[in-house]
Amino acid sequence: MRVFTRFRSLSLLHFIFAVLLAFAAHPRASAVEAPRLVQKDGRTALFVEGRPYLILGGQIYNSSAWPGKLPEVWDSMAALHANTVEAPVYWEQVEPQPGHFDFSNVDQVVEGARAHKLHVVLLWFGTWKNGNMHYVPEWVKTDNKRFPRVIRADGEPIDVLSALSRNTMEADKSAFAALMRHLKSIDDEQHTVLLLQVENESGIVGSVRDFSPEANREFAGPVPSDLLAAVHKSPGTWAQVFGGDADETFQVYHQAKYINEIVAAGKKEFAIPCYINVWLAYPPAELPQRQVDVPGIGYPSGGPVQKMVDVWKKLAPSIDAIGPDLYSSDTRFYLDMMRTYHRADNPLWIPETGHEAPYGKFVFYALGEGAIGFSPFGMDQPWGTTSGKVPWGAHASNYGLLAPMSREIAQAEFEGKLRTAVEEPGRVDEEVDFGNWQATVAFGFPQFDGRRAPGTKEAQGAALVVQVGPDEFLVTGVDCSVIFHLPGKKAWMHSEFLRVEEGTFEDGKWMSSRLLNGDETDRGLQFHGATDIVRVKMNKF
Ligand code: DGJ
Repeated sequence: MRVFTRFRSLSLLHFIFAVLLAFAAHPRASAVEAPRLVQKDGRTALFVEGRPYLILGGQIYNSSAWPGKLPEVWDSMAALHANTVEAPVYWEQVEPQPGHFDFSNVDQVVEGARAHKLHVVLLWFGTWKNGNMHYVPEWVKTDNKRFPRVIRADGEPIDVLSALSRNTMEADKSAFAALMRHLKSIDDEQHTVLLLQVENESGIVGSVRDFSPEANREFAGPVPSDLLAAVHKSPGTWAQVFGGDADETFQVYHQAKYINEIVAAGKKEFAIPCYINVWLAYPPAELPQRQVDVPGIGYPSGGPVQKMVDVWKKLAPSIDAIGPDLYSSDTRFYLDMMRTYHRADNPLWIPETGHEAPYGKFVFYALGEGAIGFSPFGMDQPWGTTSGKVPWGAHASNYGLLAPMSREIAQAEFEGKLRTAVEEPGRVDEEVDFGNWQATVAFGFPQFDGRRAPGTKEAQGAALVVQVGPDEFLVTGVDCSVIFHLPGKKAWMHSEFLRVEEGTFEDGKWMSSRLLNGDETDRGLQFHGATDIVRVKMNKF
């Protein structure tokens, strides 16, 4: 009897142990880690499923996040070779009556994305869309008492809501929180949705600030102490402290705190990274139709434009990133903007850029600068153009090149092991420096011995080089040759290719298809625009 009891309790113990083991070995099969931003040595990566992820995105047109338009969206994303779709969520559709929510559009976007193996960035079109209030529900638009509009200096109300209204902020906040709660209920395990954009190009188009009697009263008073602390200034009225920037700073203050509170409430429901996008201040000379670059006219007043990034970062700590919408293909401006928004406290993320060919090469510039992602706008253009061609072919062929190695790219960026070279008119070759090795990139073909490379017609050549080992590299490019050499030495002097493999990555595994040698390597690796990745091992002798 005793023996039996012992035997029985032992087997019970075994059973409990086995069950515990089984649970430990098989955590909930589908649960993946939530997306998060991770920093290392001043670089930031977007971790998806626990490792760096590169967003090769495409933003759809404003009115395309409707079930009837989605089939076109999925076709376009496939043609673009995108891994992430950016799709709006319309406050007016989500909350047609106060407190009554309809998330059917959102559900279809998320389910469709899963079916097409895409991730999603959702764009909350709430209080602000391009410096206006056009996406707020009818019950908000028609109740100006409860949801006051911005009043211009001449006393006229405009189509922008006042950031000073607690009522409006609470209404937006509760809708956004409901959206995040809903996302938690449908996406907590799979994490198809990577990021939330909160509002769209917030600010006021048509006035530098709200000039309602309440706003004027507040403007005449002292600058709040949290703002003084953020900008390291002494007390005074708005005009005394900020002089010519007082009106714009007043709007920035209210707007940044308004959006920060919405983001904080949303993240309480579902903790994934949230960012805001910005309608930049462009050099007036580039926008002749606007002539003057003044807040409220040249760009929406109150947004995180270049000169306001710092104060926005301080006033809105819940916002994980501010991403510039880049609609100028002037290289100097583009680079300047990337460097302005890429800071130790702000990852570089380009949520919108032009879809036309001249913007294609900027994905290489962005990767060279350490971007977590890049996403041109208007990528679900119907196919019915007379030429049968989409206007975004350059982005599609670049993404085709980068998509198979996007995880490797993200990892290399995070480790500081990635360099790019990009052609500019008159700049037909470039040196890429890894310290122990350098690479010479030359753009355009044919490349004759003893002559400079010809460059390409539209100056769209580019190369991307990743160092995967001390003497080992992954290389890809557009219309260029790439040859490695030791610092201070010419190619082939004390160095040579040990092995050159052409291939691709499948699910993170390198698949070599052939060895390259002879004419394919003697004058450097040749990239003619096909979707090639080359893995190179160098030798010193
Ligand atoms: C920037 C906005 O953020 C987008 O929603 C869209 O309106 C584009 N401009 C159009 O160019």
